[in-house]
Amino acid sequence: MVYNYRMTPKLVEDFFTKEEIEEIKAVIASQLSSKSMVNNEDQNFVDQNNIVQQDHTGRIVMQGLQHVMPKHIITKMNRFALTLWEYNVAPELVGITYNNWNKKYGHPTLPPHYDKGSIGLLIDYQIDSTTNWDLWVDGERFSMPDNSVVAFVPTRQVHWRTHRPFEDGEEVSLLFFEYSGEGISQKIDTEQLKKANTIYNTYTWRPEGKRY
Ligand SMILES: [Fe+2]
Repeated sequence: MVYNYRMTPKLVEDFFTKEEIEEIKAVIASQLSSKSMVNNEDQNFVDQNNIVQQDHTGRIVMQGLQHVMPKHIITKMNRFALTLWEYNVAPELVGITYNNWNKKYGHPTLPPHYDKGSIGLLIDYQIDSTTNWDLWVDGERFSMPDNSVVAFVPTRQVHWRTHRPFEDGEEVSLLFFEYSGEGISQKIDTEQLKKANTIYNTYTWRPEGKRY
């Protein structure tokens, strides 16, 4: 069986309805208020019970939202995932993770990397932001508005966010919809990674590109 391990990332705007966004935000708010905050700097640390703060990436991470998200929200994303999938085994949702990057947690940073583990499809959903922080996949830049998604294979496609300072009050919140991928695990393309690091280190971010 030959797998095409990469996919063409695509930005889709206006993903959820207004009502659906309110439902998602309510779930996030109730989970944020019911869990406690712990500090752990390991990017691959798994903790479904607590909110994990990472100073070095300038964010908080909350896992396990697949257990509390309304079914119809998950169904909508699963249907979208199916339209992207090129393999013969349907993608299976294994996790929904909330991320909030904010200067108050450290310096928001996400340099070029390939994810560890076996996630075959990642759908980044941007729910809220007070600034833009472009996502790059395989050298292509995506300026995501709120309520948009970008999907890619995070274990096989180098990805990062623009290297830029955050000011007080600037933040970006995302949900990661993580799907298992049969037979897929991390594969680093050293040439692509080198190119990505060059872009990361030389791309000049312009504050006038801010949307607010
Ligand atoms: Fe990643």
